[in-house]
Amino acid sequence: MAVDGPAAAGKTTASLRLARAFGMSYLESGRAYRVLAYEALRNNINPTDQAAMLALCAAVGGRSRAELLGLNRYTSGELRTTEVGRVVSAVAKIAELRTRVTNTLRAWAAGNRRSIVEGRDIGTVVFPSAALKFYLTASVETRAARRVAQEESGTYQEVLADVLRRDQADLTRAASPLRQAPDAILIDTTTLTVDQVVDRMSHRCRD
Ligand code: CDP
Repeated sequence: MAVDGPAAAGKTTASLRLARAFGMSYLESGRAYRVLAYEALRNNINPTDQAAMLALCAAVGGRSRAELLGLNRYTSGELRTTEVGRVVSAVAKIAELRTRVTNTLRAWAAGNRRSIVEGRDIGTVVFPSAALKFYLTASVETRAARRVAQEESGTYQEVLADVLRRDQADLTRAASPLRQAPDAILIDTTTLTVDQVVDRMSHRCRD
């Protein structure tokens, strides 16, 4: 199952609940881009230096698939800092790096038959033939307010500016821009509770 949408649309919370309810594996693909952004910062690598970023990706991926996917070693706290948030869009712009992440996600899914993968390009590029696709969205004000409540870091205005900047970067990049797949089910979560979102998704899983 593919779950895509802009930052803080509620993808992670709903996907985790669904994965638990239906006994499916779950993967947040954004962690791979965050791992690479985090390692670039730690190793003083310019995230716009494509050759250096590809070498970094090869080094991290060479250690293990799990490491590149952020399944071990990195805490969410490390990957969700303001600094990582600031450079992750530049990392996610690199087409060749996206190809490597895509291949790694596909290799992971081959060993996790029933799975939910969440991100920006899962239903369009990574798994275009996924059995079920959702596109979750919400107004930018709602998404920023949720993130402030969730992470308790930064003021509403700062978080709103960050979400707007990342939306813009995701929508306008040449490689795999954020798009709703034609066969994805659209859920606008602006006025919905988490339970309501999970209910709507669950109904489709049972169909
Ligand atoms: O949790 P949030 O929605 O804020 O972001 P995330 O899922 O952790 O993803 C971090 C960043 O990685 C996003 O801002 C996207 O630019 C990028 N990303 C991507 O390009 N493709 C994906 N499949 C997942 C994330």
